[in-house]
Amino acid sequence: MPRFSPTMVPATPVSIAQAAALVADGDVCAFPTETVYGLGADATQEAAVLRIYELKGRPRRNPLIVHVPDVAWAMRVCAAFPPLASRLAERHWPGPLSLVLPRGAHIPDIVSAGLPSVAVRVPAHPVALSLLRAARRPLAAPSANRSESVSPTTAEHVLRSLPGVPLILDGGPCPLGIESTVLDLTQPRPRLLRPGALPLRDLLSDVPDLELPSCHFDEVPGPLPSPGLLTRHYAPKATLHLVSNPEARFVAGLPSPTGLLTHAPLPQLDGLCDVVERLPATPEAYAVDLYAALHRLDDQGMRSIVVLAPPRNEDWRAIFDRLERAASKAA
Ligand code: TXA
Ligand code: MG
Repeated sequence: MPRFSPTMVPATPVSIAQAAALVADGDVCAFPTETVYGLGADATQEAAVLRIYELKGRPRRNPLIVHVPDVAWAMRVCAAFPPLASRLAERHWPGPLSLVLPRGAHIPDIVSAGLPSVAVRVPAHPVALSLLRAARRPLAAPSANRSESVSPTTAEHVLRSLPGVPLILDGGPCPLGIESTVLDLTQPRPRLLRPGALPLRDLLSDVPDLELPSCHFDEVPGPLPSPGLLTRHYAPKATLHLVSNPEARFVAGLPSPTGLLTHAPLPQLDGLCDVVERLPATPEAYAVDLYAALHRLDDQGMRSIVVLAPPRNEDWRAIFDRLERAASKAA
């Protein structure tokens, strides 16, 4: 018998308590974080975590991030918590930084796709924190969307992507709009696994010897050594073209309707695109609305989306990464 109807409810102390009871019972629920909406399950219950993979259609070799309410809980989830982790936690938690550390004994294999490590973070969203405190357990939570599709930044996005989720806590649009930065601390040299909502500039000032990925990898067999390495990811239904200098002839030749996503005026394309989404020209503000803009273009039935490529520099790295993956063709 369905316990909740409708599935999408405003986040209130009562609905948060219901969500906490649901996850304690081995079920899943979706909730807002400061980055994107997450699909959470008790990280210590193997069957509950399995539900996440099933609902998302996620490959079992792509590990999940464990969400905790504070550093003390993070230490319980990890088998070791080195001084650098403590320093970063103190500076950036709650916040959009996920730390990959040795996995604690009570976190089952399935959470980490069999890796000896676990990714952990304290989210900076009042609803996520209230849920974690009420649930009194760590929640494994990937973004609450079908695998490979655009991540959700509103409760409506979750509902459309994953209608089978029993409960979605609606906490409004996510304030940051792209996923957390993922940092591997299990090697002697800290390594950036995924650029994300914590600006690289901030991270580099804390971790000057940070190892940055130099290239993208294609699909690899076995558990993924680092995140987001399935090249196609974050992709809208339309074919996305990431172009530095979109010419009228190129755009006119694309299957229509055509959407344009741009952070600068492109007079040469005036009148050529059916829908224009203008995003702000600073990376943080661009990130806030990026996924929502892709969702809007998809909802309006675009067959092609032309994206003006952002500058290829450190400040835009996380956005460039998402756009590049969204543009890559399925294998
Ligand atoms: O902002 C976020 O991080 C959001 C919200 C919900 O917290 N979550 C999120 O989860 O983006 P997901 O599953 O979409 O991405 C998690 C990333 C994946 O790329 C995964 O490969 C990586 O983190 N990851 C998780 N555990 C890992 C581990 N033990 N070692 C290396 N990478 C790991
Ligand atoms: Mg995701």
